[in-house]
Amino acid sequence: MSAGVPGTGDAPVALARRATAEPGSGGSGIVLAVETSCDETAVAVVEGGRRIRASVVASQVAMHAATGGIVPEVAARAHLRWIVPVFEEARAGAGIDDWSAIESVAVTYGPGLAGSLLVGINFAKTLAYVHGLPLVPVNHLEGHIYAAWLLDREEPERPAPPFPLIALVVSGGHTFLVEMQDHLDYRFLGQTVDDAAGEAFDKVGRLLGLPYPGGPAIMKAAAGAVDRDVQFPRAWMGESYDFSFSGLKTAARRAIEARGGTAALTSGSVAELAYGFQESVVDVLATKTGLAAERSGARAIILGGGVAANAVLRDRVAARAAALGIPLIVPRPALCTDNAAMIGAAGFFRTRAGTRASLDLDARPSLPLVG
Ligand code: KG4
Ligand code: ZN
Repeated sequence: MSAGVPGTGDAPVALARRATAEPGSGGSGIVLAVETSCDETAVAVVEGGRRIRASVVASQVAMHAATGGIVPEVAARAHLRWIVPVFEEARAGAGIDDWSAIESVAVTYGPGLAGSLLVGINFAKTLAYVHGLPLVPVNHLEGHIYAAWLLDREEPERPAPPFPLIALVVSGGHTFLVEMQDHLDYRFLGQTVDDAAGEAFDKVGRLLGLPYPGGPAIMKAAAGAVDRDVQFPRAWMGESYDFSFSGLKTAARRAIEARGGTAALTSGSVAELAYGFQESVVDVLATKTGLAAERSGARAIILGGGVAANAVLRDRVAARAAALGIPLIVPRPALCTDNAAMIGAAGFFRTRAGTRASLDLDARPSLPLVG
């Protein structure tokens, strides 16, 4: 049975055992957040939806590099192995001994790998139950958006992203554009009809013989490209804000085959093809995001998700935002990829909006952002 969450179309839910702060009330604003949806075991403590008091991420990337991708059961077992040490480090880093300082426990309950999600959910439930705190379910995709609100521990204050804004989320599993008029309020503009942008980077990275994950490896290889004339197709999908990357992947495969296959590629060819591929992905993402911002009269653009760590994408969207006279807000790369601080930021706004899960909260592997 899956527990309902207001705003996701499910039945209303009961409150956790003993709520210390009611919706809308001025609790401490300190949220303990847990994220285990994919292959990063992460726990963070975030204050007021913005200030990171501690954020610890145990990455499984090196482990999954050996298999060229994620093996779900291996990922789930690694979460089980690391969740307690990661939590202990975050708690010590945040200097929190007194649980009365914590207003709520936020946890990613989807989308993601079921076995991975279950580890974090069960851990968060236990903390909420034992300490009598509200359990706040957070959508992983909402977390990627709210990473734009985060401030590092010592970072000077800066204004929060202004509404209305356009958010582009580009991760390993998702690629979509939304307009936000207010907190937690999303108007879906478009999404990928096939591969996510990060998935395309990972698949083409593998075809190019580059290490997993493909995104950072392609970015690095492309930076060294001498020949920059290679052209890959761009799928504009008419006037829509939808995206498609599977044709691009096929074009990359053909180009690699035309050069004798992966094993025959010179480092010059790898760089050249990586460059052409990255240009195609970035061009479509930046153009559509700029158009959406222009047409909607957005006051800011934000980027989130692992692919937002891509320096070329950041530069290209920054140029679009500058042309419109609005700011581009992108978290630093480590906050673009999966982490729990972003869940703590979204979790704060969810806490204040009264979103609660009961202790029978279940994983929702295919949870959409809206609906
Ligand atoms: O958000 P994330 O950490 O996990 C998901 O929720 O999917 O995103 C991971 C994805 C991977 O596909 C990875 O290749 C991509 O983000 N990525 C990048 C870069 N860094 C990570 N893609 C392009 N350029 C990068 N620098
Ligand atoms: Zn993610």
